[in-house]
Amino acid sequence: MIKNKPIYILGIESSCDDTSAAVICNGKILSNVVANQEIHAKYGGVVPELASRAHQQNIVPVIQQAIQQANIDKKDLNAIAFTRGPGLMGSLLVGTSFAKSLSLALNIPLIAVNHMQGHVLAHFIEEENQQKPPFPFLCLTISGGHTQIVKINNYFEMEVIGETIDDAVGEAFDKSAKILGLPYPGGPLIDKYAKLGNSKAFKFTKPKVDELNFSFSGLKTGILYFIQKKTKESPTFIEENLNDICASIQHTIVEILFDKLKNAVKQTGIKHIAIAGGVSANSEIRKALKATENKFGWTTYIPKFEYTTDNAAMIAIVGYLKYLNGSFLEEPTSATARLKVSER
Ligand code: KG4
Ligand code: ZN
Repeated sequence: MIKNKPIYILGIESSCDDTSAAVICNGKILSNVVANQEIHAKYGGVVPELASRAHQQNIVPVIQQAIQQANIDKKDLNAIAFTRGPGLMGSLLVGTSFAKSLSLALNIPLIAVNHMQGHVLAHFIEEENQQKPPFPFLCLTISGGHTQIVKINNYFEMEVIGETIDDAVGEAFDKSAKILGLPYPGGPLIDKYAKLGNSKAFKFTKPKVDELNFSFSGLKTGILYFIQKKTKESPTFIEENLNDICASIQHTIVEILFDKLKNAVKQTGIKHIAIAGGVSANSEIRKALKATENKFGWTTYIPKFEYTTDNAAMIAIVGYLKYLNGSFLEEPTSATARLKVSER
């Protein structure tokens, strides 16, 4: 192989409610276009049928924009990487079918990517002032659909050592926000209001769950009963205390996450700790992770903000790593709604 020969990969992500396309060249992101679907806000959550329709509308312009912004021609592409799963079936099918047809038209290989591996491997995108974690490291992968502590042995060998037994942490944020009358997705709003509030104002019970597993459904019910009781006593309770309620909810969630993460470090002896997934955008989680450097001597890895919530840059980096590894899709594959982080 000629040294430094540019390898261009197009990444396509369409697993949930964001249509995204990115171009990567030798590990560096040249473009990362994300079209959010605002349509879901008025329904209080993602409506799968509307999501796949919006993907159909967005996919062509989003890909065109990504190629344009990268300043290349589609004929320069060496391969196409797409999210195979996990995610919503209808949404995945849009990205998968488009990737397949484009690879046929351009006569270039296809690379199937596991969305959860994408969240983790976003840490390997070439960025200035961004350290890459050494193997093995632990990754707290927190999104709207997942909450896991994953031991990353190498790029493609990942072991889940703890996970939620019910709701994901993103759901805990979004459902709590819904109880407070905030629109979907409520996670970023709780983060915003929490900055102005007192995190010790209200106390919520933390769940007791075995080993390194998590549970968030009890917390959500606890918050619901608390709010029902308080608004009965005073109908303006939420309005008057929104910042304090958000800060207290967020603080409880952060404590639940970090109690388990500390145990995971104790059990494995691994002190290189990364966070990934949409919820890793949360400011208190980022602060709490950074604080462990002085407190416990951990080395921490926090992704750039734009690589936390769903994006195609993270799919493109996995595509690039698989390209170097020669892991192309030789047999036809279809979208897979359920896919473990350890599966390719
Ligand atoms: O990874 P992601 O974009 O999609 C999934 O794969 O699920 O994660 C979306 C989740 C949503 O639940 C959203 O509320 C949450 O990430 N989220 C946040 C923040 N930004 C996004 N949660 C708390 N604080 C934030 N700043
Ligand atoms: Zn995700």
